[in-house]
Amino acid sequence: MNSESHALTIDNLHKRFGDLEVLKGTSMHADKGDVISILGSSGSGKSTLLRCINLLEIPQQGDVYINDELIKMKGVGDKRKAADKRQIERIRSRLGMVFQGFNLWTHMTARQNIMEGPIQVLNVKKAEAEERAMTYLDKVGLSDKFECYPSQLSGGQMQRVAIARSG
Ligand SMILES: Nc1ncnc2c1ncn2[C@@H]1O[C@H](COP(=O)(O)OP(=O)(O)OP(=O)(O)O)[C@@H](O)[C@H]1O
Ligand SMILES: [Mg+2]
Repeated sequence: MNSESHALTIDNLHKRFGDLEVLKGTSMHADKGDVISILGSSGSGKSTLLRCINLLEIPQQGDVYINDELIKMKGVGDKRKAADKRQIERIRSRLGMVFQGFNLWTHMTARQNIMEGPIQVLNVKKAEAEERAMTYLDKVGLSDKFECYPSQLSGGQMQRVAIARSG
């Protein structure tokens, strides 16, 4: 970290979900008035980065500074958490984030989201609905996400589940 002043500084962020390493030492800063685009393929970690900035996700390692104020965290690795709730509330109240829209059932996995309609509405047998769900999810490139809940998917991945459901 240098001593320059910035509206936002992120320093060496590491974030993984189990074995999936999403952020591998991401650093950047932004100044007042900056407009920044983050580019990357679906699932590459753009939203995860934003969620780490407003502490909706806690990075296992690395620091976030808002207006040069360090967001305090305590603990290590997966046990790491925000150290000062009041600080988080104060900072969050000044950060805006527009979430990616989706309309999946949050209590069902990707596979179940796709099976539900045909079973309930079209009386399709469970085994058949399941096979179709897997085929469609495979077609949209989500064969490794069958058993993931929407909260474990990126925005683009949720959109693809919705597309598979409409198949
Ligand atoms: N809570 C979670 N548990 C497990 N895996 C997760 C979780 N959140 C995100 N992931 C995974 O982390 C990866 C990065 O997700 P992220 O939402 O950051 O992608 P993204 O770059 O915003 O993609 P998109 O362009 O589709 O919105 C994805 O593979 C996603 O499945
Ligand atoms: Mg996203």
